[in-house]
This record gives sequence, C-alpha cells and structure tokens, in this order.
Amino acid sequence: MQTRGLSKRYGRVRAVADLNLTVRRGWIFGFLGPNGAGKSTTVRMLTGLLRPTAGEAEVLGVPLNERLSLRGRVGALIEEPAFYPHLTAWRNLTLLTSLSGGCSRGEIAETLETVGLAGAANRRVGEFSHGMRQRLGIAQALLPRPELLILDEPASGLDPEGLADVRVLLLRLQEEGMTIFLSSHLLPEVEQTCTHVAVVTNGQVVAEGEVGETLRGLKPKTRLVVDDGEKALKVLAGVAGVEAEQVDRQTIEVAGGAESAELNELLVREGVRVSEITPSRRSLESFYMDTVRAGADSEAANGS
Ligand SMILES: Nc1ncnc2c1ncn2[C@@H]1O[C@H](COP(=O)(O)OP(=O)(O)OP(=O)(O)O)[C@@H](O)[C@H]1O
Ligand SMILES: [Mg+2]
Repeated sequence: MQTRGLSKRYGRVRAVADLNLTVRRGWIFGFLGPNGAGKSTTVRMLTGLLRPTAGEAEVLGVPLNERLSLRGRVGALIEEPAFYPHLTAWRNLTLLTSLSGGCSRGEIAETLETVGLAGAANRRVGEFSHGMRQRLGIAQALLPRPELLILDEPASGLDPEGLADVRVLLLRLQEEGMTIFLSSHLLPEVEQTCTHVAVVTNGQVVAEGEVGETLRGLKPKTRLVVDDGEKALKVLAGVAGVEAEQVDRQTIEVAGGAESAELNELLVREGVRVSEITPSRRSLESFYMDTVRAGADSEAANGS
C-alpha cells in the first residue's frame, strides 16, 4: 500500500496534508498520532469512504478510483462499526458478508470463535457491551479472509484479555500472510505487535521506521526514584549535558552523559534522597512522546 501526497481538507481544516506512506506486504503497520492528527481521515480515504482533496494512493497495487475491484481483498474496521441492534451477531455477519459474496456457516462460526464471541452468536447486538461490539467489528473485517486488514483503533474498549486475544490474532494473521494496517493509541500493544510504525501529527508523517530499529536508535535514559521529584528536577536542571524530566511525583528520567554514581552524588549533596537508579527500558512510548513533542515545538517555533 502506498500514498503519495494524500491530502484531505475540511473547509479550512487540513486534516491530512501531503501524506506519504509505504506499507509493504507482510508488515503489521502501526499508524500513530495524537487525537485529531488525521489517522481516521486517512483510513477513510484508503477504504473509499472519503474522497481525497489531493494526492493519490494505491491499495494492494490498485489505485483508489479502481478500488471497487478490490472487493473482498481488503477487510476494514473503522471507528464505531454499525450493526443492526435488533439482530443477532450471527445474523449481522450473514447480512454484512452477503454484500461481498457471502460466507459459509463454518466460516462465520470460526470467526466468532476467533474473536471470542462464540457464546454470544445468538444474542442481539443491541445488548452487546462496547468491547463485544468491537470484537464483532473485528470479526466483520476478518470474514472476507482479506489480504489486507485495515483497523482503526481495533483495541479500543477491549479488556486485558481482549487485548491479548487481538495481539495473538494479529501475529497469527501475519504469519498466514496477511498485511495489517492499524491505528492505535495503545503503544505497548503496538510495540508488541507491529513490525513498522509511522507517527503522524497535523496530517503529516513526522517519524517512521521499523520497530526494532527505532527502539535501538533511542538515546539511553536513566530512571531515578527519589523522595522529591520536583526538587531533583531543579537540581539537575543546572547540570550541563543532562536532560531531566519528571515522570511522576517521585520518578525522574534522565537522558545524557552523566553516570549513575555522579547523578546520585549530585542529588544527595543537595539533600535529595535517591532510592533507586535503573537504566530505563527504551519503549515505543518514549519514542512517540519525544516525536510528538518535537513536532509541537517546531510548530510553535514556526508560529503556525
Ligand atoms: N467530518 C469532518 N468535518 C470537519 N472536520 C473533520 C471531520 N472529520 C475530521 N475532521 C477534522 O480533521 C482532523 C483529523 O481528524 P481525524 O478524525 O482524522 O483524527 P484522528 O487522528 O483519527 O484522531 P483520534 O485519535 O482522535 O481518532 C481533526 O482536526 C478533525 O477535527
Ligand atoms: Mg480516529
């Protein structure tokens, strides 16, 4: 899948601005970004629900204006999926798939089982919880056995067990050869499942890469647990080459050259008690935070 200069304007709002993305077959691609960054708008354009203002995209090698020929090769879950509330889960899936050529009873049963809804197949969807509806949305996207699965926040509202189920499911589907494009705010989940990520802010890609490489490229940081985080931050603010950041009341994270022993000595000398010093794990979350903050800073500097 590829987009070139993909753009969408709503009146004066530039929701997606000159977006260039490449997603290769076999990837699990995580599309990240703050609220309002343009993720859903992009997904809507890729699935033909919205017409771009400018630019182009190819999905499975097919340009957007020929996308009808893709029927059944792409499965999608977009925001809150719409179902008939008075019909059962089973009936909803039968109706939805009948539009794209239909599915066997066996396939429907298997898919409901896969998303953990086998026991609720004959319940009316109007009685479903948010998470159950989300699971049914994933089932609906999976049923055509697509080559490409596009999921806009698939994990939204799922319980921990549901999150683990989705994680295992995505990895299994990838092993079976499916390409997966998903947007998410759940960075630990993305870190555990995605092969590649892109961060988008204000409708533009600000960072992208292979997940393992991205994490290896992060600056090492040290995490300190102290009795007074604010005071520790003040002490370290004066030290050249040290960037300190408060994580919570008693935890600060330090990037930069200083050795643990040096940091400890500095803090203790100024009357801050240090109870723990550990190298902090390089996480996708810290990469994301740094990227989004850097984007916001440069935007402020440009006055836009
Ligand atoms: N139908 C619409 N009319 C006008 N503006 C819209 C419309 N849909 C989205 N927008 C605007 O486009 C921008 C991008 O919205 P979008 O829904 O794509 O963000 P998102 O990245 O999916 O955010 P979230 O993480 O909250 O789901 C926002 O500024 C939003 O206000
Ligand atoms: Mg969205």
